[in-house]
Amino acid sequence: MPGLMLNAELVEDEEQDVKDPMRHLMNTEDGLVTLPTNAAQLLSFLPEQSHLTAEGGILKLSFSHNWGSLPRPLNLSLTVDASPGCGGIAWPAGQILATYLIQQGPDYLRDRNILELGSGTGLVGLVAGLLGSTRTWITDLSILMPIMEQNIRLNELENRVFTSKLDWASPTSTNIPKPDLILAADCVYFEPAFPLLVDTLDSLATTHTEILFCYKKRRKADKRFFGMLKKKFSWKEIVDDPNRAAYNREAITLLRLSKLKDA
Ligand SMILES: C[S@@+](CC[C@H](N)C(=O)[O-])C[C@H]1O[C@@H](n2cnc3c(N)ncnc32)[C@H](O)[C@@H]1O
Repeated sequence: MPGLMLNAELVEDEEQDVKDPMRHLMNTEDGLVTLPTNAAQLLSFLPEQSHLTAEGGILKLSFSHNWGSLPRPLNLSLTVDASPGCGGIAWPAGQILATYLIQQGPDYLRDRNILELGSGTGLVGLVAGLLGSTRTWITDLSILMPIMEQNIRLNELENRVFTSKLDWASPTSTNIPKPDLILAADCVYFEPAFPLLVDTLDSLATTHTEILFCYKKRRKADKRFFGMLKKKFSWKEIVDDPNRAAYNREAITLLRLSKLKDA
């Protein structure tokens, strides 16, 4: 009975998730939150970086691009620190989404309210600030606020990028203006948070909001997230990214979500 087997596996997965929320992101040998071992292969198209993101310290990322109006390369310094949890390191999905924003260029972000969910180090939203956006909010759990604030200061983006605590369990507490663009990278990994993330997207978005969602498939239970999502949103894979084939091989996809109807 393969169907029953699958359900039993999903139920077990769910139970384990509640006991250990970070287990899908852990290195099983030493229990540390680390990047997947195949990240080195991904790095060939990701920004040049000073060291592996899981090592802690200040990580320097250099994004190459052809925009004459921006410094070349575009450099970002990030404090990375795995001690506050998985958000303290710069995940490949975040680097992929940041790289995509750079490809779109400064005009794409101009005069838009931008909100990033589950920002971790703030990587994606900080890149929006480096591209010239003056209205970007990077959000996460309160434990990540110090690292995000430090990263804003490190990149001198205090007048462009702002932090806000936004826990998907209580998204209405935010005082951020209604976003035109929502960004989210690698936010599907903890099953009990799936409905919270869908509800957060639902409460923040209208049918006019653009949502860029970079997703790393880790396990079968992720299907449940998309089952919940499809009740409120439709989505399409972004196909104009020249790096797409390479990250698709690593089970990462970049999606554009659209809300089905306004409340
Ligand atoms: C795998 S990390 C990705 C971080 C970052 N986006 C990146 O790509 O480097 C997942 C992020 O989701 C955040 N997160 C998890 N549950 C959350 C919740 N209930 N509310 C807000 N953020 C949450 C974590 O704190 C973490 O920063």
